[in-house]
Amino acid sequence: MTTRQARAIEVRGLEKSYGTLKVLRGVDFGVEKGSIFALLGSNGAGKTTVVRILSTLLKADAGTAGGNGFDVATQAADVRESISLTGQFAAVDEILSGRENLVLVAKLRHLKQPGKIADELLERFSLTDAAARKASTYSGGMRRRLDIAMSLIGNPAVIFLDEPTTGLDPQARVEVWQAVKELAGRGTTVLLTTQYLEEAEQLADRIAILHEGRIIVNGTLAELKRHLPPAKVEYVEKQPTLEDVFFAIVGDGRKSGAVRTEK
Ligand SMILES: Nc1ncnc2c1ncn2[C@@H]1O[C@H](COP(=O)(O)OP(=O)(O)O)[C@@H](O)[C@H]1O
Ligand SMILES: [Mg+2]
Repeated sequence: MTTRQARAIEVRGLEKSYGTLKVLRGVDFGVEKGSIFALLGSNGAGKTTVVRILSTLLKADAGTAGGNGFDVATQAADVRESISLTGQFAAVDEILSGRENLVLVAKLRHLKQPGKIADELLERFSLTDAAARKASTYSGGMRRRLDIAMSLIGNPAVIFLDEPTTGLDPQARVEVWQAVKELAGRGTTVLLTTQYLEEAEQLADRIAILHEGRIIVNGTLAELKRHLPPAKVEYVEKQPTLEDVFFAIVGDGRKSGAVRTEK
């Protein structure tokens, strides 16, 4: 059932196992329309599993998931129409130019004026100068921006970005961050997953940490920082980072190297 007040994403009591491996053990969160939500977790925490369930590619064992008033289990087609998924590995066709990639997707979606749509997106993501070049000649950041641009064709209300900057160098990462901020500025709801605490800190209105199958904390950056123990007087100059919050909550993961951070 569609309701006007429905949140863009709603997840309640989500559970999922692969064989005997219990990946999700009761995941709850909601995402307000037009906001950027970061699902933060170590490699293997279950982030992609959540995204795959939300985008109807995978069935949950228990719980409910959906968005814009639709449920993934009973209204999969409606959910699919309102979302777009950009995976960890770019869907860009390397043999085609950037512009040809965009025109192709617009045609596949039966949209009018595919050329105009392509040109607008190239402009929006600062790819106009490289429009005629084969995507195989693009840098990692350009490719990822093209990938995000492709996923926007058809104006989905919600876009899932699964680790949008994994494997990119720092400069390319900043370029992708700009693209993501641009998206949300136009009212698209963004759910992004990341292993990078700094990325969540940079981009997200709200951050949820997925750890051992559950959301262990969910809030704004300021709220997350309140989980920290009181600062010691010797360290008055230092502001707590999200990384400090994470380890204050989950314990000594730093020693096992479970979460990577970017320097
Ligand atoms: N199809 C699958 N079959 C078996 N195990 C899987 C499958 N997909 C994921 N897993 C396991 O589930 C856990 C969570 O995976 P995933 O959701 O990809 O985590 P993340 O995206 O946070 O790195 C990992 O331990 C992974 O190896
Ligand atoms: Mg993943």
